[in-house]
Amino acid sequence: MAAKSLLFVAVVLIIVGSMEIQMAKAQPELGSLIGLIRINGSVFCTTDSTITSITPVFPNAQVQLQCGGGVVSTTTTNGAGVFTIFLNPLTMLLSSLLNNCNLVVNTPLATCNVGLPTTGILQSPLQLTGRTVNELLDILNVGATGFNFISS
Ligand SMILES: *[C@@H]1O[C@H](CO)[C@@H](O)[C@H](O)[C@H]1NC(C)=O
Repeated sequence: MAAKSLLFVAVVLIIVGSMEIQMAKAQPELGSLIGLIRINGSVFCTTDSTITSITPVFPNAQVQLQCGGGVVSTTTTNGAGVFTIFLNPLTMLLSSLLNNCNLVVNTPLATCNVGLPTTGILQSPLQLTGRTVNELLDILNVGATGFNFISS
């Protein structure tokens, strides 16, 4: 009788133990359920691709993420010329983003400086700059490599 109940306790302990292992295994996946691609960069009010500490920024500039000729996302720079775009990594693969997409500023440079052209665009390719993982988010950080002026 004592041996049977000891066996029963042992079996229960094994079952509980394996359930705990499975829950522990599931935890990291649950903890990083939300994946994001975060694209950011600064836009400057210049046709020159060389940026110095005195180059003025370009506030309220429309920034488009263009992939294969199509517009995937649109945003606007803030007062500091900085923009951020979030993408779902399930709908946009990182390799595709880095190889097939560009950031394009269509707002004319004359908007931030009347001495600059009223036509033409600023364009930048994208690069992976790092990864930020915490309990809730798994973020791939992608940045503009640098905007070049393309006249039209
Ligand atoms: C873009 O994000 C990266 C990583 O989070 C950060 O280091 C960088 O300063 C950001 N750039 C701008 C222009 O905000």
